[in-house]
Amino acid sequence: MKRFSLTSRLSSALAMLVMLVMATVGYALYRTLEQQLIIRDDGALITRVEQIRTLLLNEDVMTLIHDKPGLFANMLGNTESLLVLQFTDRPPLIEINPGHSPIPHINPVPADAPLTLAAVQHAVAAGGIPFISASALANVASAPYQVKITTGRLMSERTRTLAMYRNQIILVASIATVLTALLAWIFTRRGLAPLRRLAAETAMMDVRFLSRRIGITHAPPELRELIAAFNTMLERLEINFRQLSQVSADMAHDLRTPIGILLGQTEVAMRFKRDNDYYENLLGSNFEELQRLAKMIDNMLFLARAGDAGHAIQRVMLSLADEFGRLSEYFEGPAGERGLTLVCARDGATAWADPELLRRALANLLANAIRYADAGTAIVLRAVQQPEGTTISVENTGPDIAPQHLERLFDRFYRADASRTGDASASGLGLSIVRSIMMLHQGRWHAQSSKRLTRFSLFFPAKPL
Ligand SMILES: Nc1ncnc2c1ncn2[C@@H]1O[C@H](COP(=O)(O)OP(=O)(O)OP(=O)(O)O)[C@@H](O)[C@H]1O
Ligand SMILES: [Mg+2]
Repeated sequence: MKRFSLTSRLSSALAMLVMLVMATVGYALYRTLEQQLIIRDDGALITRVEQIRTLLLNEDVMTLIHDKPGLFANMLGNTESLLVLQFTDRPPLIEINPGHSPIPHINPVPADAPLTLAAVQHAVAAGGIPFISASALANVASAPYQVKITTGRLMSERTRTLAMYRNQIILVASIATVLTALLAWIFTRRGLAPLRRLAAETAMMDVRFLSRRIGITHAPPELRELIAAFNTMLERLEINFRQLSQVSADMAHDLRTPIGILLGQTEVAMRFKRDNDYYENLLGSNFEELQRLAKMIDNMLFLARAGDAGHAIQRVMLSLADEFGRLSEYFEGPAGERGLTLVCARDGATAWADPELLRRALANLLANAIRYADAGTAIVLRAVQQPEGTTISVENTGPDIAPQHLERLFDRFYRADASRTGDASASGLGLSIVRSIMMLHQGRWHAQSSKRLTRFSLFFPAKPL
């Protein structure tokens, strides 16, 4: 189906409205005029009969009728008029009928009764022209009989007047309609200019100019809300796009390093024939690199899936004593290597969380603490339960994280230490996974670091009652 423009729709709607109003007003005026003309014409006919009645009371009128019948014809003065005077059941004394209208047979009004508009008969003659007629008896001064007056008139003049009036109304209504449509079209087009400007500005938006915003100051109030919403959307897009670009750049960078190492080592190995020890060493080193790659891809996949809106988690009541015990056992080896001790403070606390995800989050925090803690210090795992939820924290002694980094630690690939190559197995995804897990739990996450004490806290909301 063809879609009409807003301009055409508005202007045709306005034009139709004007046409409807004009037609209604025109019709009402036409009807009123017609009624007024009918009353005026009927009144004139009645007056004529009254005049003839008065005339017939004159002594000399019979002589006048005999001698000068033409006088009556002149009195009517109209070729469309009809007048018949006759004594009852006698041939007419006078018959003036220049238009040859058929003589109507109507019951006459008695001589002593007054004539009213009700005495006028309405008929339609040939060609649809109205024909009015009236009949009345009249006393005659010089004769004992009564004379019957029959008169009528063909209303072609009225028909013409009305037709002219009707045509004029149609003409004026048509002109008004066309003019309205034209003006409405012009005004609407002008009025919609801001919309076209908005479309043009939007069309110019591009990934390269995501920082551009649509001007709001000169926009009409109706469009401001739309523009504001659009600008907010652009802002979100810009932030997301920048993050995404950063993530893909970092990912490419982080994938390139292990792949580069793998390629280099394999290439060197292939140049000469080597002994078994060399190959064993090479395979061992390649295995580590491949493990790092696999871990990174696994983490990326986890983050991508956790970002899905529909990702569901299975929350249960977890005893943190059990969880801490399990983690301590798992990290005993790596912690021992650096002379670190793991201390658990939990007081029989519980947390309402997905077991797999809680373990993964805590494991990431512990792995960081073990990596960054000063050798020979203690790492404290703490759980504090409150009515609204449980806070679990991992604390270690070590170099402070500068305040400007604290905010961004949970971003993907973000690392506070500038030397990215410092630890080959670190990819900068651990904390962003922690954040995703806390988001899935509608929980909170927080990092603080000062006076060589670094603490990461996770808040798991309590199970709703
Ligand atoms: N306990 C901590 N002490 C000092 N700095 C830390 C600590 N935990 C995290 N950081 C800083 O936060 C950064 C981000 O940590 P994250 O766990 O996200 O990545 P990563 O540990 O570098 O790599 P991955 O966890 O993917 O192996 C780290 O690079 C480090 O600079
Ligand atoms: Mg980490």
